[in-house]
Order: sequence, then structure tokens, then C-alpha cells
Amino acid sequence: ATGLLADALGRPLRDLRISVTDRCNFRCSYCMPKEVFDKDYPYLPHSDLLTFEEITRVARQFVAHGVQKIRLTGGEPLLRKNIEILIGQLAALRTVEGAPLDITLTTNGSLLARKARSLKDAGLQRVTVSLDGLDDTVFRRMNDVDFPVAEVLAGIHAAQEAGLGPIKVNMVVQRGTNEHEILPMARRFKGTGIVLRFIEYMDVGATNGWRMDQVLPSAEVVKLIHAQMPLVQLEPSAPGETAERWGYADGGGEIGVISSVTQAFCGDCNRARLSTEGQLYLCLFATQGHDLRSLVRGGATDEQLASAIGQIWHRRDDRYSQLRASMPADTGTGARRVEMSYIGG
Ligand code: GTP
Ligand code: 5AD
Ligand code: SF4
Ligand code: SF4
Repeated sequence: ATGLLADALGRPLRDLRISVTDRCNFRCSYCMPKEVFDKDYPYLPHSDLLTFEEITRVARQFVAHGVQKIRLTGGEPLLRKNIEILIGQLAALRTVEGAPLDITLTTNGSLLARKARSLKDAGLQRVTVSLDGLDDTVFRRMNDVDFPVAEVLAGIHAAQEAGLGPIKVNMVVQRGTNEHEILPMARRFKGTGIVLRFIEYMDVGATNGWRMDQVLPSAEVVKLIHAQMPLVQLEPSAPGETAERWGYADGGGEIGVISSVTQAFCGDCNRARLSTEGQLYLCLFATQGHDLRSLVRGGATDEQLASAIGQIWHRRDDRYSQLRASMPADTGTGARRVEMSYIGG
């Protein structure tokens, strides 16, 4: 490719994550603790949200800068009304090479059984479903709205039937909460074609009360599984990937580990994040975004919009996970990191 954009650390722009709502029907304690996200929480008013037309217009400028993958996130993205319409608009975009984009979505799976078919028909290629365990008691406690495992599994099944694959399942591992679910989850998804990924619990946002002793390092997850079902490390499938890949030695498919805490992957991070209200964030752990909505609503041309995005990316030097150890702890006095439910992970 010619003259494509790179940031201050030489990293290209490849991946755009778009949050389409800051609301969710779950209250996972590591993401939207009930005490904070109660009925008085100031969710974004409807007029602040980018419309589908505005999102697509912004996305088109990102694609012109080299973006090849778009992921819709939330909150819970399937709560956004008529999300299929947005998917249809995004599916019509083409990369600078003229190829279709990789369009995917990260969901808690609660509405998937109902929506898998229409999402596929709209042009969605695949989905990633979050599921933190198979034990119903543990899972109901973690989502904190008493949502049963069986319904998420039904959603995953519907996604498979609809051809929304390859499907990934994300499990956030919290030491002392669901570590005993690691092996059952690995056994459940081995040989199904579904890629299970174990995520180290991260210090995102400012409300989840994260503590280092709740992090189970991915190396331990791999060791635990390897002792029962031998694993071999696989090559990355794309540069800048979040997950390290491991394959079952007997050919039973693969798993992934996402180790932002113990093994930062900022070195080739090519991800930009667009918030529901049109703020561009350059890092999951950023405290401040760049306001694209006022450009969009203030009459900027496509060229001006693209040029603004280019300048912002060009100056980007974020690498929070690499610097984490040397960062001051969030004491609540300084600038607040954005919440996971706001920026979509
Ligand atoms: P694939 O394209 O399917 O590999 O998806 P992904 O891993 O990029 O996205 P997903 O939404 O499944 O994210 C998996 C986990 O990785 C979530 O916990 C995210 O919050 C986390 N994650 C994704 N991107 C980043 C990142 O750039 N930095 C950090 N620290 N974590 C990230
Ligand atoms: N640490 C790690 N992963 C998290 N997720 C949400 N909050 C956290 C956290 N604090 C996960 C969700 C979903 C993905 C987008 O991020 O479970 O799978
Ligand atoms: Fe909702 Fe996902 Fe956050 Fe859980 S992790 S509260 S499902 S946005
Ligand atoms: Fe990218 Fe920030 Fe995550 Fe590092 S911490 S990988 S820079 S989003």
C-alpha cells in the first residue's frame, strides 16, 4: 500500500471498534457494577448518539485510511434499535484495496438466539460472544442479573446455524471468582470450531475496583489446560492481534489468551475506538477522546473529516499496557479513564 497512515510509534490504522450504545442488560461486576450503574446513572441521551448515517460516514473516512476490520461493541450492541440497518450500510463499504471489510460484533449473547439470522442477512460476517463460565450459579452471579448460561449457549448455537463464524467466545478470568470454570469451558468448546479466548481481568475504567491479585496470568491458564489437553503455540494470524493462539496437539481446534496485564501487546496496536457519541479514542485506557461529532455536525467535508482523523492518528503515542507498571494508581482525583461499557473494550 502507498503512503498509508502510521502513528508516532509507526503503527498503522487497521481496526475500528465502534460502540453503538453505552447501555447493557447485564451488570457484570468487572464492567458495570450495580452500585454505580443504577437507575440514576447518566447514560447518553438519544440526541448525543451518532446516527447510523453519521457512523457510516465517519467509518468511510477510517476505511480510506486503511481500516480493514470494523467491530461493533457497546455496552451491548444488540440493544441498539435496528442495528441491522447499520450493519447493512457498513457491509457496503470497501477497503482501499477494494475488498469487503471484516465486519464483526462483540455481544453478551442474550439476544443472539433471536437475532442471529437477521444479523447474518444484513451482512455481519461473524460474532464474538462473552461467556464467563458454564456453572449456572457462577455465571448468574457474574452477570448479576440472574441470566442463565443456557440462553447464551442457545445464542451461540443460533449464530453457528446462521453461519456467523468462525465464532469466538470470550471468558474474562477473575482469580477467586471463575478460575475453576477454565477447564470445563475448554472441554466444552474443544472440537466445536469455536475459538475460546481467556482474557486477563483488566483495570479498565474507574469503577470496577480492579486489584492485581484478581488477575490470573494467562501463562497459568495455558499451563492448566496443557496439563490435561496438550497445546502447541501457533503463529499469529494477523499483525497486532490481541490474542496469543494455542492449538490442541490432537487437532481439536485452538484457544487464545489475551494478556494485556502480564504481556502487553501495545507494540503493534492498530485499533481506533469510536464512542457512541462520536469521540475518537486512541487507547482503551484513554482519559480523553477527540470530538469527531462536532466536525460531522458542524458541516465538515469528507476531506476535512479524513484529514482530521489522519492528524489525530499521526500524533498517537498511546501504549498504556506497556506503561501500566509505571503509571500512578487511579485515586479518583486525576482524569478518569473511560468506562468499558462506554468504549466497548
Ligand atoms: P478478534 O478480531 O476476533 O481477535 O477480536 P478482538 O480480540 O480484537 O476483540 P474482542 O472484542 O473480542 O476483545 C477481546 C478482549 O480484548 C476484550 O477484553 C477487549 O477489551 C480486549 N482488547 C481488545 N482490544 C484491546 C486493546 O487494544 N488493548 C487492550 N488492552 N485490550 C484490548
Ligand atoms: N477486563 C477484561 N475484559 C473485560 N471485558 C469487560 N470488562 C473487562 C475487564 N475489566 C470483556 C467483556 C467482553 C469484551 C469486549 O471485554 O467480557 O468479552
Ligand atoms: Fe454488559 Fe459486556 Fe459489560 Fe457485561 S462485560 S456488563 S455484558 S458490556
Ligand atoms: Fe492499544 Fe492501548 Fe490496548 Fe496498548 S493498552 S494495546 S495502546 S488500546
